[in-house]
Amino acid sequence: MNLTTRYLGFTLKNPLMPGASPLVDNLDTVKRLEDGGAAAIVMHSLFEEQVERDADAVYDALDVHGESFAEARNFWTGPPDFALGPDQYLEQLQLIKESVRVPVIASLNGTHTGGWIDHAALLEQAGADALELNIYFLPSDPSETGQDVERRILDIVRAVRETVSIPLAVKLAPWFSSLTNFARQLDQLGVDGLVLFNRFYQPDIDIENLEAVPRLGLSHSDELRLRLRWMAILFGNVKASLAVTGGVHQVADVIKAVMAGASGVQIVSALLRHGPSLLPPLLKALEEFLEENEYESLEQMRGSMSLLSCPNPEAFERANYLRTLQMWRG
Ligand SMILES: Cc1cc2nc3c(=O)[nH]c(=O)nc-3n(C[C@H](O)[C@H](O)[C@H](O)COP(=O)(O)O)c2cc1C
Repeated sequence: MNLTTRYLGFTLKNPLMPGASPLVDNLDTVKRLEDGGAAAIVMHSLFEEQVERDADAVYDALDVHGESFAEARNFWTGPPDFALGPDQYLEQLQLIKESVRVPVIASLNGTHTGGWIDHAALLEQAGADALELNIYFLPSDPSETGQDVERRILDIVRAVRETVSIPLAVKLAPWFSSLTNFARQLDQLGVDGLVLFNRFYQPDIDIENLEAVPRLGLSHSDELRLRLRWMAILFGNVKASLAVTGGVHQVADVIKAVMAGASGVQIVSALLRHGPSLLPPLLKALEEFLEENEYESLEQMRGSMSLLSCPNPEAFERANYLRTLQMWRG
């Protein structure tokens, strides 16, 4: 069965790849992922905070703020222990490139334009085949409008796009007033791929110790539905190829993502739970599904459940909403 797919301009042997995570900090695991069938490798992120020279000053400023009112002293818990520093990241990238034949997608992660963006060029020079840019922030300044937020993201993307010539994917949050319009604007900047969506890790509150407690829960298949909806809406409306991240655990999740329009299917939680041995049975089950349902190729199935041929997606969504609310019967 032909499982090939075009993502970021590459012809991949299948759509599955590990998403950005610590899995790829270990070279042996990277090789096992490729042996298991991963069609590309997405690296763990290199963060703006690691690269900016004044990162320590930022942390100091946050510490001072934390001390300013006792109840909030634990909002800020200090800089995290990054697995790889900026130089080690470049070394790891080179080692991964030497070890695998599939495309290696480096990941940069930040929130403002600034000097850290120059690092994109170093990643390209170190051999990255493509770059995934993750812009992860939660706007909390009341004076920052939705338009300001979009402009901030577009400015970062434009700066990175001007810095590298390798394919560029942008990993997004799901919350925009008009994601379709925003995705078009990213398209116009020459973005090659959109990765839908970041998972937001909401900290919990420890009510005894007045601490914000970080929670890292792995995902479940239920989280896929938000991605499916937007994938189905964006498919055919943007030039950029689409990858899903968030909630892919079983073969049915892979199939749904492709039917909605995904060219790339990123997996993290399920790989963290089960390891690289998850991939071969997943690929086998995908082939079996396609054969049993008489598809000639994965490509034939892609986008078949998108809203591309739906004359009025907004009316369709509204009708579904009304139907869903009427389903409840005590
Ligand atoms: C332990 C861990 C580390 C992660 N590190 C990164 C990262 O460095 N950069 C990034 O863009 N996403 C990171 N993610 C998010 C994943 O790439 C992925 O988008 C998210 O886990 C949703 O996919 P999943 O449902 O398959 O887990 C991380 C996720 C986990 C669980």
